[in-house]
Amino acid sequence: MGQGLKQNNLYLLGAPGAGKGTQAQQLSALLHIPQISTGDMLREVRSQGGELAATLSSLMDSGKLVPDGLVVDLVRKRLSRPDCQGGAIFDGFPRTDDQAKILDQLLVEQNRTPLKVVMIDVPVDELKRRLVDRLTCPNCNRSYHAVDYPPRIPYRCDVCGATLVTRSDDNLHTIEKRLEAYFRQTAPLINYYEKQKSLIRIDGSKKIPDVFASILSCL
Ligand code: AP5
Repeated sequence: MGQGLKQNNLYLLGAPGAGKGTQAQQLSALLHIPQISTGDMLREVRSQGGELAATLSSLMDSGKLVPDGLVVDLVRKRLSRPDCQGGAIFDGFPRTDDQAKILDQLLVEQNRTPLKVVMIDVPVDELKRRLVDRLTCPNCNRSYHAVDYPPRIPYRCDVCGATLVTRSDDNLHTIEKRLEAYFRQTAPLINYYEKQKSLIRIDGSKKIPDVFASILSCL
């Protein structure tokens, strides 16, 4: 991996419901680099069944983080695929101090350009409002909102036509637990990346296209 190669390694940092997935999909389409969403990858592993799937379901449905080792293995494998040569958009990873250090190390080892970190800031009440009415495509992982951003045909994904679902962790009890995990384990990374001078904060409470424009203006 040559440093001369123009790469975008972008990390979208934000609480559950901040709009990381929504923005990552649009950025991926525009920049032609893949979205690496550990949440989507874990749901994919979970859908294959077996003992690991049961463990993942129990952790994810109670709003807890999955052990670092498992998540890091998934990211390491994903990052070795050829489509990541021009960079990647990290969505939901890293989420702990150890994950952040491992990603920094991986980027150095692979001679990749350092991360740009965009922190999408949204008030907690708005996060909850978004998540309780979210609809998700289980096929292409696109997010909708029943009120603000509904699909053109009720419960049908605009992109692939699959039937939309409510994620098993999008209920108020689990949302509270996910937010607790975010503030305890992930929000401290804001300080970590501020010290590295790689963090840019943007106002994520604006409309989706306005948030997208703010992110683009930082790149
Ligand atoms: P994950 O799938 O990563 O979930 P999350 O971080 O909780 O984030 P979400 O996907 O819920 O929110 P988002 O920010 O992507 O919002 P979205 O764009 O969909 O993780 C799930 C679980 O997996 C974790 O709890 C953990 O167990 C495990 N896990 C994952 N990664 C891990 C890791 N690295 N380590 C350990 N465990 C890990 O938007 C949300 C809603 O808002 C949608 O309805 C959307 O339409 C709407 N919306 C988006 N933007 C706007 C806007 N600007 N205005 C109004 N509405 C908007």
